[in-house]
This record gives sequence, structure tokens and C-alpha cells, in this order.
Amino acid sequence: MALNVVIMAAGKGTRMKSALPKVLHRLSGMSLLQHVLQASAGLGAGRTVIITGHGAAAVEAAAATAAPQARFVRQEPQLGTGHAIQQAVPALDPALATTLILNGDVPLIRADTARALAHACGGERLALLTIELADASGYGRIVRDGASVQGIVEHKDANPEQRKIREVYTGIMAAPTGALARWVMALKNDNAQREYYLTDIVAMAVAEGVPVVTATAASETEVLGINSPAQLADLERRHQHHQALALMEAGVRLADPARLDVRGRLHCGQDVEIDVNCIFEGEVHLADGVRVGANCVLRDTQIGPGAVVHPFCHLEGAVVGAGSLIGPFARLRPGAELAEEVHIGNFVEVKNSTLAKGAKANHLAYLGDASVGERVNYGAGSITANYDGAYKHRTTIGNDVHVGSNCVLIAPITVGDGATIGGGSTVSRNVPAGQLTVVRAKTVTVPGWKRPKKAGQGD
Ligand code: UD1
Ligand code: CA
Repeated sequence: MALNVVIMAAGKGTRMKSALPKVLHRLSGMSLLQHVLQASAGLGAGRTVIITGHGAAAVEAAAATAAPQARFVRQEPQLGTGHAIQQAVPALDPALATTLILNGDVPLIRADTARALAHACGGERLALLTIELADASGYGRIVRDGASVQGIVEHKDANPEQRKIREVYTGIMAAPTGALARWVMALKNDNAQREYYLTDIVAMAVAEGVPVVTATAASETEVLGINSPAQLADLERRHQHHQALALMEAGVRLADPARLDVRGRLHCGQDVEIDVNCIFEGEVHLADGVRVGANCVLRDTQIGPGAVVHPFCHLEGAVVGAGSLIGPFARLRPGAELAEEVHIGNFVEVKNSTLAKGAKANHLAYLGDASVGERVNYGAGSITANYDGAYKHRTTIGNDVHVGSNCVLIAPITVGDGATIGGGSTVSRNVPAGQLTVVRAKTVTVPGWKRPKKAGQGD
């Protein structure tokens, strides 16, 4: 479709009471503006124009990353939504017959809804996205004569009769590009807020005999705007509830759908169970039969079939093999790659390390930049000393190695297959396969030794 998309994002967001521009506040891990850009990316727009003003530099930097092809128009000062579109007009491509206007602070608009609205406009009608609200206060009301729309009246300008109207303008419209340019240039600010209202173009269209049509949003959630921290939190919970319902519909068993946060995408196999207060960020894959205990945070992580993540684990950039057991209180950092049936116990940290099938590190340990062989038992309190103050070095541990408790493996170092390292060893040379290596002082017993005593305490 021949489409311009305009995103209004210049407003101050006074009620957020924040130094951060409103549209950069986050909903489910992504800025409000990113959500809108994501929806508009699916529309095949020939041109995208973002109107910035308050915090323009920060908003433009964030948007440029998410939508490199977007153009920016600055609105200084901000004299209303109509004034905002006046600034955008020179940046529109007049050859694209339809212009869709989205609000930077209405994050959950669905691409399907926006597309349907653009189609309803079709380059010749003014199409408004509306919704009926139980409490319409604050919104612009859709004034109709019978079925036909006459105009939009802003809440502050509405008379008591008009304030009873429950059908409201969502802030999203699609207009014929040429007419839009003409209409916004003719706007006046003779209203309660002394602003140039974009919504006044509706009456202009009616006066010119341009058809005004409406489309209804699929749900309240997709058109709710964010003006305050309370509204942001409310929309977050609604959005999370939607995601939880979709997961449960797909068979995922959530201990409590109200205590789940997915800030990204969570892909689940069959018979996945998730206990309360878990947070999933980025792209997380849970294979068939995975169980995640309470209070876990998983980011950009893949968990293999039947693996169990016990409560209070933090996993980031990790791959966990089938049947593995993680935690409680384990930390897997980026590059932790665990094969099948690996056990990582409490207070164990793994970074940039591979653990082969059946390897175990069950208590209070650190594995950094290490390759760990099959069936290795890595003792409590043992660490890889992988950093010499300037460079990181690797530790290679063969199959069937037994590392005792409280060992320090000073990298770079290789431990041969089947080796045993005695507890308390600080090892700085390669360890031969199949033998016991112990690096510690011999135990000494001094016969007849007496403890010192204070004077006057007898002999
Ligand atoms: C607007 C609509 C109202 C509608 C409501 C839906 C107008 C006059 N009113 O009211 O009918 O029911 O949205 O949420 O359009 N913005 C700018 N520059 C400005 C002013 C605003 O870019 O000078 C941007 C804001 O950043 C925001 C959007 O436009 O993204 C809406 O502005 P806002 O002030 O929130 O409008 P409302 O009073 O909510
Ligand atoms: Ca608003």
C-alpha cells in the first residue's frame, strides 16, 4: 500500500514525572516507541516520520537503532497534536496516498488493526480508530449524527451532553495525504487548551464532503495510552496477562498467571511448568517437560528437554542440555553450554564454559573459560583462576576427572582424563591423566608440643 506512517512522540509526558522522555519508558522490556515501531514495521510503509520534541536527541537515538530508515521532524515548541502534524507535512511523501498517524505513547497497537485502518482510508476517506470505554473521561469524543461522524470534541471542550458519549478517539487515524496537509495548515487554536488539535480536521473533512469512517479496536489494551507510572504498570499487567493466557492456551502450566513476566519471547514445548515470580527476557526456549522453579530470571537462554531449574537461579546467554539440574541459587552467564545431565548446584557460577555430559559442579564453585569433560566431578569451593589481571586463559578438564574441594586451577592449564586433584590444591601446571595430583603442604604433627599459657596459670 502507498503509505506514510507518522509517529507522534514530541509530548513531554509531564505526568510521568521522569527525566526520561515518556516514549522511552519500557513496557515488557521494550520502550513504548519500540513497540509502536515494531507494529509499524509490518505495514510496509514507504516512509516513516517520527515527530520528536521533548528529549528529542535521546528519542531520535533510540528510534534510529530500532528503525534506521525513519525520518525525524522536530516540533519546538509543542503546541498540540495538530501543530505536530503541521511540522511533519513537509517530510511526507506526497506520492503515498494514505498517511497513518500513530501515537508514540499507545504501545500495544497491533499491526493488523493499523493495516485495516489504512485500508479503510484507501487514500480517499478519513478513517478514525475508535473504542467504547466505560470511563471515557479525558478522551476526545466521537460526535455522530445518526450513524455519520460529525467531529471529535476534546473532553475539556465538551458540553455535559457530549461528555456522556462513550465512543472515543484512540489517537490513531489514517487520512488522505494531500487533504491532511491542507487541513492541518488551516487549524486554529481557539479552544480550552489553546492548542492546535489534530482532531479538528474531522469536522473539516465533513464540511468538504470527504467520507469519515471508523474502525473499532480489537481490545482496550491495544489502544490504551500511557500518561503516568500507574497507567504504565496497569498496561504492563494487562499485557503480561494476555501473554500468560496465550502460554496456558498452548499448554504451559503456570503456577500463577499473575506472577509471570515475559519481556521478550518465551517459546515452550509440551508439559512445561513454571512456578511463581519468574522473569523471561529476550528469547528463551524451554523444551518439552522443562520445569522452572520460583523466582528465576532467564534471559536469552535455551533449556533442553526434561531439565529442571530449581528456585532462585539467574541464567543469561546459556544453553542447558536435556535432563540437567540447575540450582537452587545457580548462576549461568553468557557462553555457559551444558550438555545432557549436567548438575549445577547452589552458589555455582559458570561463564563461557562447556560442560560435557554428566559433569557435576554441585556446590560453591566457579567455572570460567573452561572446557569440562564427561562425568567430571568438580568439588565444592573450587575455582578456575582464569584472569591474570590482563588476559583471560582457558582451563581444559578431561573426562572422568575428579577435582577435590577448594582447589584453584590456575589457567592456562590442562587436566588429563581420569586425573584426581586432591582437595585444597592450587595447581599451576598441567595435571597428568589417571593419577592423583596434590599440591599442598604435608600434614605435620609435632609430638609433645604444648600450647602457650598466660603467666600464673600453672605450668
Ligand atoms: C489525544 C486526542 C484525543 C484522544 C487521545 C487518545 C487530540 C487533540 N486529542 O489527546 O482526542 O482521545 O489523544 O489518547 O489529538 N504530541 C506531540 N506534540 C504535541 C502534543 C502531543 O507530538 O504538541 C504527541 C504526544 O507525544 C502523544 C500524542 O501526541 O504521543 C498525543 O498527545 P496527548 O497530549 O497525550 O493527547 P491527549 O490529550 O491524550
Ligand atoms: Ca495521551
